[in-house]
Amino acid sequence: MKITFYGHSSFGLEFGGKNLLFDPFITPNEKAKHIDINSIKADYILLSHGHQDHIVDVEAIAKNNPDSVVVSGFETAAFFGNRGCKFHPMNHGGKWTFDFGTVKVVNAVHSSSFPDGAYAGHPAGFVIWNDDACFYFAGDTALTMDMKLIPMTCPKLDFAILPVGDNFTMGYEDAAIAAEFVDCDQIVGCHYDTFGYIVLDKAAAKDTFSKRGKTLLLPEIGETFEI
Ligand code: NI
Ligand code: MN
Repeated sequence: MKITFYGHSSFGLEFGGKNLLFDPFITPNEKAKHIDINSIKADYILLSHGHQDHIVDVEAIAKNNPDSVVVSGFETAAFFGNRGCKFHPMNHGGKWTFDFGTVKVVNAVHSSSFPDGAYAGHPAGFVIWNDDACFYFAGDTALTMDMKLIPMTCPKLDFAILPVGDNFTMGYEDAAIAAEFVDCDQIVGCHYDTFGYIVLDKAAAKDTFSKRGKTLLLPEIGETFEI
């Protein structure tokens, strides 16, 4: 499967013949200045929560991709629905089978509000699968025992995208434990280096994962890789 990292928690994935885009926060990211959001293709825009550093480019990308569907918790999906985006609202514990595969909304321990302070529902992660693969996009979250429910309720994960930057989310030490909780050996790190609060010691982070028999991938912004 092809994955492109757009910086922070923004990823594009080709999955089930569709382009999935996660948490687009690109234009305000100084480290992602070389990314042209007009070149991004999206059939589905999946949003973990309403914080600005996960939604700021949604409307622009949805306008460029008029058939794209915003998939998120009820409040966040409806927020973009009110701004003219197609949307599919979901909520925790629920799953839905789309034309690319099944999406299950799982818990995240974090907060969520829109940039103006309005309520944005409860933050979420997603487990997404089809006959070919299964992966977990954790969103912004602390390490939580709820992650142990994922191997009990979803297919075996091929990889997981976890925040590792600390301060606003779990740091890499807890993320390595999260990898064990979700029973996954291949982890893509995100939510690091964007701001001063979340600068990552990459060597220490990779070492912490490898000591648990896990691989931590830290792609370059703009890099497309196969997983
Ligand atoms: Ni957040
Ligand atoms: Mn965030």
